[in-house]
Amino acid sequence: MAGTPLKIASIVGARPQFIKCAPLSRLLRQRHREVLIHTGQHYDRDLSQIFFDQLEIPKPDFHLNVGSGNHGEQTGQILERVEEVLLQENPQVVLVYGDTNTTLAGALAAAKLWIPVVHVEAGLRSFNRNMPEEINRVLTDRLSALLFCPTKTAVDNLKKEGITQGAHNTGDVMYDAFLYNANRSEKISTISARLSIQPGSYYLVTIHRASNTDNPENLRKILKGLGHLDLPAVFPIHPRTRKALKKLEKKLHSAKPLQHLIDPVSYLDMLILEKNARKVLTDSGGVQKEAYFLGVPCITLRDETEWVETLQGGWNSLVGTDPRAIGLALRKDPPRGSRPETFGDGHAAEKMIALLDQL
Ligand code: UD1
Ligand code: UDP
Repeated sequence: MAGTPLKIASIVGARPQFIKCAPLSRLLRQRHREVLIHTGQHYDRDLSQIFFDQLEIPKPDFHLNVGSGNHGEQTGQILERVEEVLLQENPQVVLVYGDTNTTLAGALAAAKLWIPVVHVEAGLRSFNRNMPEEINRVLTDRLSALLFCPTKTAVDNLKKEGITQGAHNTGDVMYDAFLYNANRSEKISTISARLSIQPGSYYLVTIHRASNTDNPENLRKILKGLGHLDLPAVFPIHPRTRKALKKLEKKLHSAKPLQHLIDPVSYLDMLILEKNARKVLTDSGGVQKEAYFLGVPCITLRDETEWVETLQGGWNSLVGTDPRAIGLALRKDPPRGSRPETFGDGHAAEKMIALLDQL
């Protein structure tokens, strides 16, 4: 039996969090009262507003306009401003998503006010503490009362850290979002016509991880690796990467096959670009999974992945930044193995809502 409706504050701020919150927010609002807080970590239209419009996410009740900054500065400002809102709104639950500075600051603000924290996408680990996201994940999981794990691996990771209470394998809300939007993207996206690209005739590239953008040597090596492409690349460039490339004074256009250097695209455009790519080269967590959902081979420009399930059957290859390894992965035959459904059944949001009644 469903319990009393709750007042729930959901805290989002960065691109993948908008995508994750869309399916959950839609269901949540059928029974509970949601107060949506946008920290403003991402603020460019193509990293923020476009997702609210396209995925029909309700307008945030609070926009904190925090913007960019160093880790301490950004995390500190979010902490301060979220606390103010939580004190004013007094929600019974705080929902945070993923592993960004928004996630950690939101969880910390809530935990200090004794508001139960619910972590969507709990238990993921790269086991690399040099990643800011790893620190955000580990600490957020520690602070959470309910931990919604997208995979069994995530539940097991938490168990190894002694966290069992409140941890549940709900499946991945990004899979919910993917299933909900796959057909919509076919109907709505015009990206293929705009770029004049045919299915299978290009590689899709995304890079934004700090270890790849803030380290000029790594970025240079990746660009060298991309020199092995035998087809044009479509490369929606994250602003962080655009800045890093400028600093490197490397004219990407000089790398011949990289023809479509574009601004970040909408989610529906991205799903189409992923679906029709020969292969995907990325350091993004979400993009690795979407390539797996779509059965498109993925080359991951990192040494480790939190989404180890995508490595099954050779659908995802970890190549780091070594140009030769990138070249070899590009030439590898497409995998033939099956892709087990390890990210849930597309009903993660429903399971999460049912579990909220445990609080
Ligand atoms: C953040 C997350 C990362 C996530 C990614 C999703 C952290 C530590 N990192 O990384 O886990 O994978 O979001 O995309 O929280 N910028 C703009 N316009 C914007 C936003 C950012 O130009 O709207 C530029 C600024 O120069 C900024 C830089 O991008 O300094 C990095 O932004 P930031 O939010 O700090 O980190 P991301 O790299 O986006
Ligand atoms: N994405 C998008 N447009 C882009 C690049 C990515 O809509 O130009 C989507 C992508 O399909 C996935 C999510 O953003 O759903 C992944 O976010 P990102 O790569 O920023 O962060 P990560 O998943 O690595 O945290």
